[in-house]
Amino acid sequence: MMQGSFPSPGQRAVARCDALAVAPFSQAAEYLDRPYLSGAHRAALDQTAVWMQEAGMAVRIDPLGNLVGRYEGAQKGAKTLLMGSHIDTVHDGGPYDGALGVMIGIECADALYRAGRRAPFALEVIAFGDEEGSRFPAAMMCSRGMSEAVGQEALNMVDLAGTTLAEAMSAFGLNPEALANAVRAPNDILAFVEAHIEQGPVLETQGLPVCVVSGIAAQKRLRARFIGHAGHAGTAPMTLRRDAIAGAAAAILAVEDVCVHGSPDLRGTVGRVLPATAAYNVIAGEAEIGVDVRAATEAARDEAVRAIGARFETIASARGLGLDFTVIQDLPATRCDPVLMKVMGDAVAGQGLPLLETLSGAGHDAAVMAKLAPIVMLFIRCEGGISHNPLESVADDDVDVAVRVLGDFIERLALEDA
Ligand code: GLV
Ligand code: MN
Ligand code: MN
Repeated sequence: MMQGSFPSPGQRAVARCDALAVAPFSQAAEYLDRPYLSGAHRAALDQTAVWMQEAGMAVRIDPLGNLVGRYEGAQKGAKTLLMGSHIDTVHDGGPYDGALGVMIGIECADALYRAGRRAPFALEVIAFGDEEGSRFPAAMMCSRGMSEAVGQEALNMVDLAGTTLAEAMSAFGLNPEALANAVRAPNDILAFVEAHIEQGPVLETQGLPVCVVSGIAAQKRLRARFIGHAGHAGTAPMTLRRDAIAGAAAAILAVEDVCVHGSPDLRGTVGRVLPATAAYNVIAGEAEIGVDVRAATEAARDEAVRAIGARFETIASARGLGLDFTVIQDLPATRCDPVLMKVMGDAVAGQGLPLLETLSGAGHDAAVMAKLAPIVMLFIRCEGGISHNPLESVADDDVDVAVRVLGDFIERLALEDA
């Protein structure tokens, strides 16, 4: 696939993401859907491994299903600069969320390889298998498993088909017993760098192709299950019902209400609604919603989570419903490393561009990798700020700027490391 020459690294990185946006790299024929440990994930790893090898990298798949391409440094035993992003997508997602950061990493390795050069440190490009959490309830599984041992609790998570994570790993050819081997030693890692589309409108508004990320918002995933009483739609009087779907509906509006009235950086989303019935004529006995709450600080996020929990309790008790309210995931607010931000900022300025720093409302593997090593991110303008949507779009020229900035970042880091 993808024969022919590309006038620029940016154009090739974008074309590769486009190539991965269709079957067999998507499990759906009509839209892009590449969940963790799916056949589409396998196909994308196989193809990306070929591109990594063409860029001079040795390739391996770690026990979590992360694809890792390694371009050795000039000195054996030197530390490793990790670059990359995720290769999974949300259901009906866009081609560039995640994949573009992987393809840009490959372009950086390719530039060194074509020039016959090596940095003083090794360069590894990682395609993380799960960042979105679109198959199993918790997100960032694959960066998490690199920074700490993933426990049995995670392996017992089930997808909507009832498959456990452990079963999905085995079916993919991975050994769930070997997960501890995926954990990286902090002493071996120089830094983690992630390039990603902005997924928001700031760069477009400012007329800039790229900017440095200062940090990543705090995030919590919550699951609320309302338990009522199943009944007949035609006979149960309206005032005597314990309708779980009606309770969940009130709860969804409560999330919106709490977050609309919070600080400007507060976000609350119910993106998942699972009624236990899908029938016109049955009063639902059970309904589950998945809630995503984010804010710049953990304090602001947790205040909103407390308010949401209190509102859910009130709704459940007024409607005679049981309530099971669980925190599925807690991702703290993360700061990018100030020294690396300065190096990245100098690389941006080196392209004759004004410097802009922005906080990411979106979650990224970098937030989890921060447990392992200092992190920094570069955002790339995307059209209309649109993401988690098939209309995601990025300009080749902007990706060329990002590749140049990251190439310069590597040079500057090499000088600092020398
Ligand atoms: C990932 O895209 C997230 O921010 O949830
Ligand atoms: Mn992403
Ligand atoms: Mn995403």
